[in-house]
Amino acid sequence: MRSTTVSATERGPVAIVGAGLIGRAWAIVFARAGHPVRLHDMDLQTLHNSHAYIEARLDELAAFDLLNDAPLTVLERITCVPDLADALRDVVLVQENVRETVEAKIDIFTRMDALAPKSAILASSTSWLPASQFTEGLPGRGRCIVAHPTNPPYLIPLVELCPAPWTDPEVTVRAHDIYSAAGQSPVVLSREIHGFLLNRVQAAVLNECFKLHEDGLASAEDIDRVLKDGLALRWSFMGPFETIDLNAPAGVSDYAKRYGQQNRETIGSETAFDWSEPAVARVHAERRQHLELEAIAARSAWRDRRLMALAAHKRQAPNA
Ligand SMILES: NC(=O)c1ccc[n+]([C@@H]2O[C@H](COP(=O)([O-])OP(=O)(O)OC[C@H]3O[C@@H](n4cnc5c(N)ncnc54)[C@H](O)[C@@H]3O)[C@@H](O)[C@H]2O)c1
Repeated sequence: MRSTTVSATERGPVAIVGAGLIGRAWAIVFARAGHPVRLHDMDLQTLHNSHAYIEARLDELAAFDLLNDAPLTVLERITCVPDLADALRDVVLVQENVRETVEAKIDIFTRMDALAPKSAILASSTSWLPASQFTEGLPGRGRCIVAHPTNPPYLIPLVELCPAPWTDPEVTVRAHDIYSAAGQSPVVLSREIHGFLLNRVQAAVLNECFKLHEDGLASAEDIDRVLKDGLALRWSFMGPFETIDLNAPAGVSDYAKRYGQQNRETIGSETAFDWSEPAVARVHAERRQHLELEAIAARSAWRDRRLMALAAHKRQAPNA
């Protein structure tokens, strides 16, 4: 990806539209990187609550040495703005995070395109929807792009940039620079595809996990263990391609000669898991034996603290 330098303008204000789980997290990402952030939500109570939520996350990040500035300095860069037009004034980037329906995305992108400065990039956090499904009719459709984060983006840096067929290539380059400069790890898709890259890889893994469970091969707990005590330990430092490159003395080709046939045969006999209600309910019930529904928020907070420790560790041991 050809890169431009992120200018002072690009460190300019960023608007976050939708202050739910992902919008709040994006506010932390951009404020931590030095951008003034305008956080907007149509629900005033959500907007109001986001302040205390972000403050608590910043204190945790500071405790793991994951902030370059004092938590209060970062917090002061974030302004809650109830009016959309005010939130979008003079911004360089709008990060949209409203609910995941085509109708909601069309509605908010139509208003964002009318109100944001013409030079601003309009990016959607959508997890599954290609930008062409909600930007086609817009006068400013060339500046629209998907920038799909992983929850929470202030701890998990991947952002998937997926341009629509009409997205201006310069917008993709500029978005890449802005997210990189903000400490994220952008990847660029060459064309649109449902679910982008991460959710497709996750869907393939989930497909196999559910099928192994349905076939009675192991408990949900043990199948989770295959990832957390097995595969995922390597995967937090290197991807599956780099993993197999190191798993045979002469690299990927050697791995393919040794194990390609077994891999092919394993997958060749597979059919898709049907996500049927009874099958999902069996895994749900098993999970509830380990974690009551009321405890999910506390467990998510525990997960984020473990991710903070991992992020802090990875900071000390860069990939290359
Ligand atoms: N939750 C995740 O793990 C995750 C991960 C990656 C991407 N995403 C994507 O991010 C987006 C938001 O997801 P979320 O989990 O934060 O949802 P959420 O329900 O927590 O938040 C959505 C927020 O948008 C606000 N909103 C709705 N319509 C609005 C409008 N027209 N104007 C202003 N505010 C509006 C709502 O009041 C709500 O606060 C979705 O597209 C989702 O697919 C979610």
